[in-house]
Amino acid sequence: MPGNSVLEVSNLATCFTGSAGVVKAVNGVTFAVKAGQTLGVVGESGCGKSVMCLSLVGLIGPPGRIVSGEVWLNGQDLLQLSPKEIRRVRGREIALVFQDPMTSLNPILTVGTQLTETIVSHEEVSKAEARRRALELLARVGLPDPERLMRRYPFQLSGGMCQRVMIGMALSLQPKVLIADEPTTALDVTVQAQILAELKRLQKELGMAIVLITHDLGVVAAMADEVAVMYAGSIVEYGPAAEIFASPGHPYTRALLRSVPRLGGEEELAPIEGQPPTLLDLPGYCAYLPRCPQAGEECRVDKPELRALGSGRYVACCLGGGR
Ligand SMILES: Nc1ncnc2c1ncn2[C@@H]1O[C@H](COP(=O)(O)OP(=O)(O)OP(=O)(O)O)[C@@H](O)[C@H]1O
Ligand code: SF4
Ligand SMILES: [Mg+2]
Repeated sequence: MPGNSVLEVSNLATCFTGSAGVVKAVNGVTFAVKAGQTLGVVGESGCGKSVMCLSLVGLIGPPGRIVSGEVWLNGQDLLQLSPKEIRRVRGREIALVFQDPMTSLNPILTVGTQLTETIVSHEEVSKAEARRRALELLARVGLPDPERLMRRYPFQLSGGMCQRVMIGMALSLQPKVLIADEPTTALDVTVQAQILAELKRLQKELGMAIVLITHDLGVVAAMADEVAVMYAGSIVEYGPAAEIFASPGHPYTRALLRSVPRLGGEEELAPIEGQPPTLLDLPGYCAYLPRCPQAGEECRVDKPELRALGSGRYVACCLGGGR
């Protein structure tokens, strides 16, 4: 893995045990993110993106369980920390923004109270200093009239404003890593573009690494330096975004790219045929096989591991990933 990564994840696996059996939601993922860079994580609904994010920051509870892996941040493996220790790291060194800000903001506290309490709970600063910082943050994330906003409750704000408050709150402690799980999916396109542009600006300012989960490939193309394509709980392709978009190496990545319109493109759209497998009983071979137009007998032997293609690119396919 590259030497200057702030976050290094290796072989992370998480499962849920229920009456129907064991759901292998995340099945051994490995990736790294450098300071100031964005990793875009894409894949169809249910492929394990959110569970992966929650696993990174110690937010998986029963019936979920992390069965293996290491998550290195700042010289410590987050998976070895006590619940108290991980709570300290969360927010301060690694922050989260989710799709629905209404469930993340406290409905009975004003924006000002929530922001200042977050700052005071993690840092030894006076209330007045925390308030000053809160005002500055609201302005930084592009919210007009921060003084007035501080006195408002979440339900008095639009979805876009709430999401900006959430981002402000996530950035209040200047984390080294921001995990953003579909941060703008619920918003209309123009608000989405503004928020993403602000996020990029703040990232530059703070040198923060971002893990951006989205099923919008346009957002990934605009934001990500690197991409991880997930399928059935595993990363099937990983590498520099521009190169993966220009010449996808895995049959699933190719299908994913063909299923979305390209700006100004004239090719016909092709939805991906079939359904992703249930994560309850994954085969011992390539999970994409039932949908793969290139599948052959050799694909039934083993689960293909990520293999290096050179130039930082990795593909998990027994055809090797070349086109
Ligand atoms: N609390 C839970 N209990 C049991 N299974 C769960 C739980 N949370 C998630 N799963 C399962 O884990 C798998 C991965 O879910 P996850 O939410 O990570 O998908 P996702 O890639 O984020 O999808 P989406 O794009 O729809 O957000 C799914 O099969 C889901 O049913
Ligand atoms: S291993 Fe075989 S089935 Fe799987 S993606 Fe590659 S070609 Fe398709
Ligand atoms: Mg999700």
